[in-house]
Amino acid sequence: MNTQRFISFEGLDYSGKSTQIRLLEKYLTDRGYQVFTIREPGGTTISEKIRDILLDKTHINMTDRCELFLYSAARVQLVKEKIIPLLQKDYFILADRYVDSTTAYQGFGRGLDLNMVEQINQAATFGILPGTTFYLRFAPEQIARRMQKSGRESDRLESAGNAFYRKVFQGYEILAEKNKDRFCVIDANLSIEQIHHIVVKNLIQRTTGKP
Ligand SMILES: Nc1ncnc2c1ncn2[C@@H]1O[C@H](COP(=O)(O)OP(=O)(O)OP(=O)(O)O)[C@@H](O)[C@H]1O
Ligand SMILES: [Mg+2]
Repeated sequence: MNTQRFISFEGLDYSGKSTQIRLLEKYLTDRGYQVFTIREPGGTTISEKIRDILLDKTHINMTDRCELFLYSAARVQLVKEKIIPLLQKDYFILADRYVDSTTAYQGFGRGLDLNMVEQINQAATFGILPGTTFYLRFAPEQIARRMQKSGRESDRLESAGNAFYRKVFQGYEILAEKNKDRFCVIDANLSIEQIHHIVVKNLIQRTTGKP
């Protein structure tokens, strides 16, 4: 399957993923492309229901493995119902988080066995990975600042604290190093417009092969 049009955005909370996806979605639709944007976990009726369970702040006793399986269950449904059929129809798929989030958050962050996480990721995605992953590099210390600025209420995962985010950050850094062909690392402290410009430039390079 051609996954060149499958693009994921990764990075810590508040790194600007959703902001960039909105801009890229507009850029592509303005140029006549068909675009489907997915927010993980979610994107199908079943996956959205699983999302509600995952983000419910009252579920404080959810085990790490339960969290891993729920994310993965939501993803299986998304891949089968949306990602595969839409890639076959030449859509651009913009994913607000995908399998790397599971490795970074549940693997590195929660400390689950990385081999187990990898196997489950493989099963949940049928081995389908994005052609490009834009990783917005954002230090854990910066989360609180942006969180206060945006005035948004934190959910169950965001309540997990700074030590947790440092581990997630390390996880992303390792993933970026290991997947250099797929990952495009961008400094999340650049302005929204600067980042958008880098994203577009990179996509043009990757899809046409021209500098
Ligand atoms: N490059 C940037 N510089 C400054 N502020 C930004 C930048 N990008 C996004 N923001 C602001 O930071 C906040 C978080 O952005 P956004 O919701 O896009 O992040 P996110 O990565 O999707 O977060 P989450 O993982 O929690 O969904 C928003 O208030 C947004 O306007
Ligand atoms: Mg977001």
